[in-house]
Amino acid sequence: MTDHITAKTQITGLIGNPVEHSVSPIFQNKLCEIMDIPSLYLPFRVLEGDLGKVIDAFKVLNVKGFNVTIPYKTEILDFLSEISEEASIMEAVNTVKIHGDKLYGYNTDGLGFIRALESQGVQIKDKNVVMLGAGGAARAAVVKLAQHGAKQIAILNRTEDKARKLSELVSRKVADVVVSAELSQDSINKFASNCDILVNSTSVGMWPNIDKCPVDAEDVFVNHPIVFDMVYNPLKTKFLSLAEKNSCKVISGLGMLVYQGVCAFEIWHNVRVPVEVGTDLISRLEEYFT
Ligand code: ATR
Repeated sequence: MTDHITAKTQITGLIGNPVEHSVSPIFQNKLCEIMDIPSLYLPFRVLEGDLGKVIDAFKVLNVKGFNVTIPYKTEILDFLSEISEEASIMEAVNTVKIHGDKLYGYNTDGLGFIRALESQGVQIKDKNVVMLGAGGAARAAVVKLAQHGAKQIAILNRTEDKARKLSELVSRKVADVVVSAELSQDSINKFASNCDILVNSTSVGMWPNIDKCPVDAEDVFVNHPIVFDMVYNPLKTKFLSLAEKNSCKVISGLGMLVYQGVCAFEIWHNVRVPVEVGTDLISRLEEYFT
């Protein structure tokens, strides 16, 4: 297992708290192996107040880059020399590249979402999208959907104010997109008849609450949209099962998880990961989750 570690091996990893549950080390190390990149990806649990010390240590130890998860996605901003445009719009960083004494921040969640769709042959341009939820994951996805030319994005959320703020942010930053913020099953139904891609970004239906579903009625599938659930545990949520029963193409959140990592890998190592490799990683993780 350690045969591939040599004097040239570079370190990447994940900082957060907790990190013990993360599957990123599993597929990132597999990615290093498949792409033949001499690198290791390690989880680092970082306690409150230790972020600065950890970053200093990473610089000294020539760590190449790292992913950032809860609770440091915003706090990390204070340590960066530069931040990508989308990370700045999203106000959160999930990927950092270290170059000399400088740290560069990115957010690959949104692009990961887009590449997960594209890897399934789904194009975004001119599509009508309904986004259920308006949290961090929705924000990342909606910004990229708008940048990729979605025609209309309807953001529907339990807390209407958050949906409205997100819609304002996207309309301000990205042109040519109509964004609506409304609530309730009625509003979902209103947009459903015109919907090409229906996305759940809420945590509703996630283990252990697997009997829950973000929609109450099956008429939301009337237009046979592509249905994407950002939840990946379970792989087949109640939402996806209902969508499948209504003859919709369904995509689980595993693709987004893998592709946000693939995008980070590409930033650290300056390579392009072929789509077959992404598909291979997703099916390996499907086995891990079943
Ligand atoms: P993430 O980073 O995964 O997006 P988040 O920022 O905490 O997590 O956002 C969680 C999303 O799931 C929010 O849209 C939240 O709705 P509120 O803004 O009203 O809190 C939504 N959500 C979580 N539990 C929910 C529930 N039981 N019913 C409806 N929406 C729910």
